This record gives sequence, structure tokens and C-alpha cells, in this order.
Amino acid sequence: MLLSRSRPLYRFTFNGWISTSPSIRKFTNTPSSIRVLEETYPTDDYTNLTPSILSKLSRRLHAQKGHPISTLRSLVESHFPDFSHLSSLSPVVTPYQNFDSLSFPADHPGRAKTDSYYINKNAMLRTHTSAHEVEIFSRGIERWLLTADVYRRDEIDASHYPVFHQMEGAKIFDTDASSIERVERECQLLERQLAASNIAIEDVQHMSETNPAQTSHDMRSSEVTAKNLKLCLNSLLYKLFAGVAGATKDDPLRVRWIEAYFPFTSPSFEVEVFFRGKWLEILGCGVVLQSTLDRAGVANKMGWAFGLGLERIAMILYSIPDIRLFWSEDARFLSQFTHGKIDAFKPYSRYPPSHRDISFWKSSSDMHDNDLYDVIRDVAGDLVEDVAIIDRFTHQKTQRHSLTVRVIYRSFDRSLVNEEVNVLQNRVVSRLRERLGVEIR
Ligand code: DAH
Repeated sequence: MLLSRSRPLYRFTFNGWISTSPSIRKFTNTPSSIRVLEETYPTDDYTNLTPSILSKLSRRLHAQKGHPISTLRSLVESHFPDFSHLSSLSPVVTPYQNFDSLSFPADHPGRAKTDSYYINKNAMLRTHTSAHEVEIFSRGIERWLLTADVYRRDEIDASHYPVFHQMEGAKIFDTDASSIERVERECQLLERQLAASNIAIEDVQHMSETNPAQTSHDMRSSEVTAKNLKLCLNSLLYKLFAGVAGATKDDPLRVRWIEAYFPFTSPSFEVEVFFRGKWLEILGCGVVLQSTLDRAGVANKMGWAFGLGLERIAMILYSIPDIRLFWSEDARFLSQFTHGKIDAFKPYSRYPPSHRDISFWKSSSDMHDNDLYDVIRDVAGDLVEDVAIIDRFTHQKTQRHSLTVRVIYRSFDRSLVNEEVNVLQNRVVSRLRERLGVEIR
């Protein structure tokens, strides 16, 4: 369902809240319930969504024709024409879907409310597209791509934004001899195609002592699954990057496979591409943990999955210098792009930045840096370019913690005048006092 952009999706009248630890929570005025995408949820001490985040839920950049995120999605989808292409799953999931269904340990740091956005203890915004694996496999879909917005509490700079987009791809198959043979034949075909392409691959073993096959998998099917995964992704990366990088016989596209760890795959890999002089981390992938497939009711299958971040790749392919630009509704940004084509972004202006420093005492030691970033983002929106903690110390006698924070303001559309920045900064300061109980030094 395509949600209308003009309809507000959250209905509450106050102008911002954040709640984290009990000691911080006493400074906040979280309402007793909130509405997210047409549903009402009771709040509790997990609630830490902010209006600025909620306003992003309806944007659906990946469905906006011509937008770089949407073009990149189409390119990936066109590489997997026989896969189901999904893109309308709600960002609201349970912690079970996001973590437990994928065998994340109970103490995994990603679960912390300092790292993820919770509506309440039982509902959160997905932090990755893998959250939907069990659900999709259990619908009987064996080959699929899912594009979606994902949410993570994070620092503020040119390459971090609390909302970004991922694509998850997966393929599972039967494990009887004839099905495995079919996958082997497909591998041979892909191998021949890649051999005729200008690509140089630095590979790792399909499995090793530190990156093992799963005990329930036999050697042959485990090998062929990892091999099929590698071939499918190498040819995807060739499609995405060789066009822009101009791979030739003498200067082929370089792709590097690295052993990795994810709670929900084994063996697991990360893939990097050498682009404009640097190795860039592009995606994570691996052989799906059998327990995930068991939970989905497809215990007799096996297969692979990958997840990639679209903003990172789009920033590289389109030469887009700041992640905030993807959210721009300015015609000078949007009108530069044609759906299905990758053209270098032409910066239309670079207005001067303006910075302000704040020093304060934290109200309690459990105030997390991410609490600070969310408050600033909520006040200044996309006018904040970067937030850096430039000094941190603990008072010897009182044991109070002090921070000095530098906020860099800059607009893409116009020059910010000093008075305007002062107003923003004053609002940031009073919001930090109200919401986080800090004491300005
Ligand atoms: N979900 C992971 C992340 O957000 C990426 C990922 C890694 C997805 C491995 C996968 C996978 O499907 O197999 O960092």
C-alpha cells in the first residue's frame, strides 16, 4: 500500500519527546500512547521514538520513481528477474522478529534502546531487513528481494542518518540430489559468464574452521550453496559497479571476499569493492542458519541470504557527498535524476557552515551519546550536518561527567544567517535541559 505523503501519520500535539533510562525519563513527558502508521500503541519505558523519526516512516524513498535509492533498487531487482520483489512491509516489527527469530543472543548490543528505536517493549522499528526473513520464508517464497527503510540510533555526520534503506535477498532450495545438481549447473553457467567479464575476484574459502559449515549440512550442499551465493553476488556487483567504474581487461573491477560473522548465517562473508582507489564495504551475506528456516516451517530447505545498504552504494555511484541529500525535496536535487540511470550528482551549491559549542554536565552517567543526537536532530532536522563530542571529562571530586559538543549547522538550500543559527542553538540548549536534564556549564 502506498501511503499518501500529505496525510500525517502521527497525531499528537506536543513537540518532541525522548525517554531512555529511568533517571532520564523523569525529565520527559512521553504521552501514554502514540500512533504509528494508523495503529495506537501504549508507551512504556522503552519508548524512545521522536517526531523527527516518525515523520520519515511515510517517505518511502525507495518507491519514489527517479530517486537514486529507487533506481538502485530497480537495478538490483533487474538482476534477479525470477525473484519475488517485495517493498511494502511495515517498518514496525517485534523484537522477536528483529532479533530472536535470527538467533541473536539475549545480550546482543543491537537490542539496547540506546541503539534501536522502540515504540514500546514489544514493538520497534526494524533495524535491518533481515527482520523479515522468517515471515517471508514461511509464506513459501523461496527466492525474494525485499527493499525497505531501516532505523538505527546513531551519530550525526555526512554518512550517518537514523533512517536508511536496505535490500535483503535470499534464495533457498530443496536438498535432494537432483535439486543440488540443478544449483551446480546454475553455478557453471554463472562461472562462464563471469569468466568472460572484466572482474578480478579475491576469494576466501567457502568454509573454514573459523567460518564453519553448519552441522546439519553435508559438505557438498554446503559448498554449492556458498559457491552459488558468491557467483550471484559477484555478477550483481559487476552489473552495479563496472558500468560506472569502466572495468577493462587491463583494469578489471576488483571484488574481495572476507570471512565475517553474523548471528544468523554460517559460513558468513563480507564483500568489498575497490572503487576510486579505496576498498569499500558493500554487503554482508552467508548461508542461512538452519534454525531460521526451521522457524519458518521450511526445515527441509537450505540456502543463502545477503543484505546491502542502498545509501552507501548510491553515495558512491552517484557521487552524492552528504546522506541528508537523499531526503531533500528540493527540485535542484530531485530533477537531476532519471529513473534507471546513474549520472554523477552535480552539487548545486555549498553554503557556509556555522558551528556552535555547548558544554554541560550530564544529569546521570547513563545518558547515552545517542540521546544527545536524537534531541539535536529533533530540533534542527536536516539543518544539522555534524555533531562532534570535542571534550569529555569526569570531575575528580563530584564524579560528574562533562561534555563539550560542537554542532555544525549548514543548509543545502541557502545561507543560514547568524540569528537563525542562534535561535536553533538556543532551542537545542533548552531542549537538552528539558529532556535530558543536563546542566549547562
Ligand atoms: N542484516 C545485516 C546488517 O544489517 C546484513 C546481512 C548480513 C544480511 C548477512 C544478510 C546476511 O542476509 O546473510 O548488517
